[in-house]
Amino acid sequence: DWTPAHFVQETIANIKEKVGDKRVVMALSGGVDSTVAAELIHKAIGSNLFCIFVDNGLLRKDEYETVLESYKHMGLNVKGVNAKDLFYGQLDGVSDPEQKRKIIGRLFIEVFQQESSELKDISFLGQGTIYPDVIESVSVNGPSVTIKSHHNVGGLPEKMNMQLVEPLRFLFKDEVRRVGREIGISDIFLARHPFPGPGLAIRILGAITPEKVDMLQQADAIYIDGLREAGLYDKVWQAGTILLPVQSVGVMGDERTYEFTVALRAVTSVDGMTADWAHLPYEFLAKMSNDIINRVKGINRVVYDISSKPPATIEWE
Ligand code: XMP
Repeated sequence: DWTPAHFVQETIANIKEKVGDKRVVMALSGGVDSTVAAELIHKAIGSNLFCIFVDNGLLRKDEYETVLESYKHMGLNVKGVNAKDLFYGQLDGVSDPEQKRKIIGRLFIEVFQQESSELKDISFLGQGTIYPDVIESVSVNGPSVTIKSHHNVGGLPEKMNMQLVEPLRFLFKDEVRRVGREIGISDIFLARHPFPGPGLAIRILGAITPEKVDMLQQADAIYIDGLREAGLYDKVWQAGTILLPVQSVGVMGDERTYEFTVALRAVTSVDGMTADWAHLPYEFLAKMSNDIINRVKGINRVVYDISSKPPATIEWE
């Protein structure tokens, strides 16, 4: 019978046996999978696990600082790398969604390789790969058609010439959460919505600028905090804001404005493969619209996305 307690015990023993007194390097993303995988490896080999957490400048507001702090609090040996300018520089003027994903994926690998090459005597690469990733890398990105090239920290360098440690390889998401709970991982990680690897880059339609990232981070924080305060966060599967490449006319006091629009997105789903738009209360949406327009400079219009998947996708890019 599968139980989290039994899985944890057995997995830690296996990692100890496999890794011995060698060293493991691993990228953390702030998501459930890499965090639970890291903590399992950490429990097995302690400070021989070296973690790297990259700020690509496309995370949610304050996410990098908060998550890095939580990792340190867990006792993980983690190095934070601020690579914002590198990412913004290479993404400058790029508006094609697949191109953005490719650039972000490539830069992430470059930064990670650079950082790991500075660590000595690393023999293993830790990864938070879970079972659906194993299947998806076959079905979603199969040879026939790529709808969206899903990139996340699950897809790291093959040429790094290290053996893999993937403690979650045969688990489904709900099992990962149960394991996480068993080893005391905070709800900050366990109860969080999915967030795409390319981050806010695919929620800013068109070319990315640091100013647009800042605008979207502010709107997104108001929306996500609002969902939490209204007790709606756990009722939706995923939520976020999208900055549209559209300016429209508005009025503020007696000034005419010509500013950007954000779309709010919230969906219910089981696995993200199909999704229904969440029927959020009108009063809540009204409050979000007011708060965002009043507090975020540069935004004068808020719309709500009422498209389901299929035929729409959850993200807009
Ligand atoms: P779509 O937009 O395809 O999204 O309906 C389904 C789920 O996948 C996430 N997503 C991504 N995750 N890299 C990721 O790691 C990506 O490039 C990517 N694109 C979409 C999306 O957030 C949703 O949870």
